[in-house]
Amino acid sequence: MSFFRTAVATVTVTIVFSSVALAIQPGKTVSWNTPMGKVTFSGSNHAAMQVGCLECHSKIFKMKKGSTEMTMADITAGKFCGKCHRKGGRAFEPEGNCDICHKK
Ligand code: HEC
Ligand code: HEC
Ligand code: HEC
Repeated sequence: MSFFRTAVATVTVTIVFSSVALAIQPGKTVSWNTPMGKVTFSGSNHAAMQVGCLECHSKIFKMKKGSTEMTMADITAGKFCGKCHRKGGRAFEPEGNCDICHKK
């Protein structure tokens, strides 16, 4: 019985890890062109920073490129990327950090 339970746990762990590996191929990104330059969101970098899929999907973003309509004002107001990228949030705030997201 305990062998069975260990086997089940191992299978579950393997499934979780392999689906993550499939979802975030290195270089999988989403980008937006803005007058301030291109913003690139890197799935691999966010995963490396221990941000789980469920923290963004689907309560903040749908799993579909181009489905989000957001403006910088939304982000600064703490929506979308700004849910984390805000003052006192878990990631750098927009103020003073424009060029971390916006690349010319
Ligand atoms: C920090 C937030 C965040 C995290 C964490 C995140 N994603 Fe996403 N994901 C996004 C954004 C933003 C988009 C693009 C949405 C848009 O363009 O409107 C996206 C898009 C997607 C898409 C659609 C891609 C396409 O080509 O249409 C898939 C599939 C996806 N994510 C899967 C995942 C999986 C699986 C994980 C966990 C390994 C994950 N995401 C983690 C923010 C995130
Ligand atoms: C956490 C990443 C991030 C940071 C930091 C950031 N931006 Fe943005 N910015 C975005 C994203 C994402 C968009 C939305 C692109 C879209 O949907 O078209 C955007 C859009 C914009 C736009 C396009 C017009 C608009 O209002 O949506 C401007 C201008 C802009 N940002 C200016 C700035 C300035 C100035 C700063 C620094 C004070 C800044 N951004 C910091 C991610 C960021
Ligand atoms: C669920 C929380 C969360 C959301 C939502 C989120 N991020 Fe992040 N992001 C993080 C964390 C955590 C880090 C790493 C800590 C730091 O750099 O402050 C990070 C780092 C970054 C970096 C620096 C690393 C890199 O990939 O170059 C960029 C750029 C970035 N985020 C852009 C975005 C954009 C654009 C969005 C919206 C499409 C977004 N993030 C949404 C949590 C989030």
